[in-house]
Amino acid sequence: MEINSVKDYESRIKRVLITQEEIKASLKKAGEFIDSLYDGKPILLVSVLKGSFVFMADLAREVTVPCEIGFMCVKSYFEGTSSSGNVSIVMDLDRDISGYHVVVAEDIIDTGRTLEKLVEILRARNPLSLHVITLLDKPDRRVVEMKADMSLFVIPDHFVIGYGLDAAEYYRTLPYIAEYNEE
Ligand code: IMP
Ligand code: MG
Repeated sequence: MEINSVKDYESRIKRVLITQEEIKASLKKAGEFIDSLYDGKPILLVSVLKGSFVFMADLAREVTVPCEIGFMCVKSYFEGTSSSGNVSIVMDLDRDISGYHVVVAEDIIDTGRTLEKLVEILRARNPLSLHVITLLDKPDRRVVEMKADMSLFVIPDHFVIGYGLDAAEYYRTLPYIAEYNEE
């Protein structure tokens, strides 16, 4: 993909799938869901970079239980258009999570392979509890059985961009979620 102008850039935004207002309303519900899980107990909210950085920043401000934040950067290796399940940790959490109730904020569950690996890695570290909240879920693409505790939006099998999600590193800064024009 080569982007040399704003025209190139904008031409690949096919249509808005989820508006800012819809995201905002759904974030409120996700914050309430997290609060209801922990009944005032402190949590560690973990953003899986890079895709969930916008989602986690907004979600964190809807949570009222005491909340620490952590970052982890994972890289999923792709075979063609699907992730292979080969996941490497590019940047790890800066602490031992064994004393924490951990909530993972994911951008999207596609084949499920990335999250499966991540959950396996985090469970092995014996957190007090582990929950996963995903912004987007594409169940039609699932290869391994993987379900989040909460999915904000279930979407059809389209490649999407915006609100943290990229196509070749661009479009993460769009305030809405759009379908990507792959032509
Ligand atoms: P997985 O297939 O569930 O392992 O997803 C792997 C990763 O692929 C996700 O964490 C996203 O970073 C990326 N991904 C999957 N589908 C999309 C999409 O529609 N737009 C942008 N990134 C995606
Ligand atoms: Mg990505």
